[in-house]
Amino acid sequence: MYTTEKQTALAQLTLSLSQQIKTQNLPHDEPTLRSLEEVLHYHEWRYYVQNDAILSDYDYDMLYKQLERIEAARPELVSSTSPTKRVGSDLSGDFVTVPHYSPMLSLENTYNADDLNDFDRKVHERVNQAVDAPIEYVVEPKFDGGTICLVYENNALLRAATRGNGNAGDDITANAQAMRTIPLHADFAQYGIFRCELRGEAIISKPNFDALNIIKTATGQALLANPRNAATGVMRVKDPSEVRLRRLEAFVYQMAYAVDADGKDVLSSIATHHEVMELLQKLGFKVPTIERKLCKNISEVAAFAEHWEARRDSYDYEIDGMVVKVNRVDWQAMCGLTSHHPRWAVAYKFKARQATTRLREVEFQVGRTGAITPVAKLEPVALAGVTVSSVSLHNADLIREKDIHIGDMVLVERAGDVIPYIVKAIAELRDGSETPVQFPTVCPVCASTLIRPEKEAVWRCDNDDCSAKIVERLVHFVSKDAMNIDGFGRAYIERFWQEGMLDSVTGIYGLNYDKIKTFEGFGERSAEKLRIAVEQSKQNPAYRLLYALGIRHIGEGGSKILTAEVERLQDLQNWSLEQLRELRDIGPKVAQQVFDYFSNPKHIALLDALAELGVNTTRLPEEQRNDAMVQDGLWSGKTILFTGKMYQASREQAEAIAQQHGAKVLSGVSKDLNILVVGEKAGSKLAKAQKLGTVQIMTEAEFFEQVPK
Ligand code: IVH
Repeated sequence: MYTTEKQTALAQLTLSLSQQIKTQNLPHDEPTLRSLEEVLHYHEWRYYVQNDAILSDYDYDMLYKQLERIEAARPELVSSTSPTKRVGSDLSGDFVTVPHYSPMLSLENTYNADDLNDFDRKVHERVNQAVDAPIEYVVEPKFDGGTICLVYENNALLRAATRGNGNAGDDITANAQAMRTIPLHADFAQYGIFRCELRGEAIISKPNFDALNIIKTATGQALLANPRNAATGVMRVKDPSEVRLRRLEAFVYQMAYAVDADGKDVLSSIATHHEVMELLQKLGFKVPTIERKLCKNISEVAAFAEHWEARRDSYDYEIDGMVVKVNRVDWQAMCGLTSHHPRWAVAYKFKARQATTRLREVEFQVGRTGAITPVAKLEPVALAGVTVSSVSLHNADLIREKDIHIGDMVLVERAGDVIPYIVKAIAELRDGSETPVQFPTVCPVCASTLIRPEKEAVWRCDNDDCSAKIVERLVHFVSKDAMNIDGFGRAYIERFWQEGMLDSVTGIYGLNYDKIKTFEGFGERSAEKLRIAVEQSKQNPAYRLLYALGIRHIGEGGSKILTAEVERLQDLQNWSLEQLRELRDIGPKVAQQVFDYFSNPKHIALLDALAELGVNTTRLPEEQRNDAMVQDGLWSGKTILFTGKMYQASREQAEAIAQQHGAKVLSGVSKDLNILVVGEKAGSKLAKAQKLGTVQIMTEAEFFEQVPK
């Protein structure tokens, strides 16, 4: 269909048009109009046919609106095949095509309350209502799956089709029959309906999607990109059992045609869309319920849509907006249709979560434990309400897998609580100037040779005196969960470090406040406040200090357990590896780290020096072991193991979080394992755990969802 060269040319044309419209409207000339038509057709093909979009929905809409604008100004140039005149086609060529009873159209998009008010005003005009007369609308989710069209005749499902080109679609009846949410029989006759055509969305729920990918991972198959692709892909498989396996569901949201046995219209005898939905629900169809509302006027519409925008992530299905529909069916008819969309409905699109931008460079950051994290620096881009200018690339493997180059245009996504990430590099937009990312072999800060411990995905700087590590350690030391020194944060640490006043944690207790109060932005009061907070931290329970030392794998929970076992923290130097391992809730990894840390005389000297400065290293009476202490975490008494690639946090961070909430982290699957958290491409561990049958398996997303906030 499109050659590689053609795709590159179209992708580049898209980019230049998108960039132009950020600053100005496009010229109203024929070449611009034809260019817009061509790029929009191309992106519809990528989206509907290839299932591999490279343009965000928002950028598509902006180009579409430009085309509409030029067409309005220059009607003589409008072509009958313009994207504004017809809906994008998803015909695959692999199925018999069947005609629809009424055309399946698209929706016009709006993005804010002003757009909604405009829509409401136009509806008022079309139905001849006074400006201040309220018009009722039904608002329901805009499901992000694949459109499905169902024909019932004589109370039985006769046929199912995709949207196709709007007039005819692929016949996917066998697949629809395999979908449990689509009734094979429904008593339409009681409403005088002999034949009808319903519209809906085939969709895979988020939990089902995660579960599917867990199975794919276990069996070494390629992962599904997202729930939408998984749904639209499986709608067109030739093996209906696959449809059942993927648990494809269908929400129904419209009755587009209904006639009695004589072919007479019955649809117009049902007064409102709301009643249509109630009827369909009664007949056993899956329709939106609490997520659907009959609104009295457009301001209620806006409020309900915003309410769902905020709750989008907690909803089990992917939705990218809300659909607003005129409730009265006779008024819908008065509003009419264009060849592209009905005038009685509009989509209220949620804030864009995807955008394309350029990757300017990759920085390598050194963490507290020496882990080197590549961070992509991006041309700033607005994403779901915030500006994103840098995203973590996690590790060298991810850069290789996604084939990310410096200078690439990348598709970035920010969904809900998920940290922004790069979906893909757009290879079609390369002009040859892009360069591969060179992962450093030496620490970018102290130049010592990096190491990659066996079985770990992360390269590390092993130099304890690396200044980046020292600063990060200091930041951790003063942080809320550690020594909790009020008002002391990264900015102060970096400042004092630059001034040469702070090069180790002992320095925190010997700061020169007379000097600090002369710094710009400081003063007598803030210096004094800081001094008091630092002084107060000396009295902290010892477990805080142990946690603040930043020993790898030791979370707050582990610190409490260890502190409960000793008189003074320094006493841990007398514990053997075996003794540490025997401790309840201390896993082998943690035991090894504690053993290594306390075997180093430098670390004992550090604790002694802190004690000398008045910092408490002695267990307080309330820190003595009591069983309530280890039982109050979410995962207390549970063992946990992480496997596969994680994206929301590093493996290490996830382990620390699990420990903070009482879990003991294991290093392998055994009959002692309670919970396995599965990231991407988990392998033998998952298979082993599944075989055991006693292990609770959860996805990375489920794990983070459970973490108490
Ligand atoms: S009503 C005549 N309601 O959005 C158009 N569509 O961009 C009537 N969609 O192709 C569509 N959820 O697949 C309607 N609650 C909903 C929807 C919905 C998702 C999809 C539908 C359509 C696309 C338009």
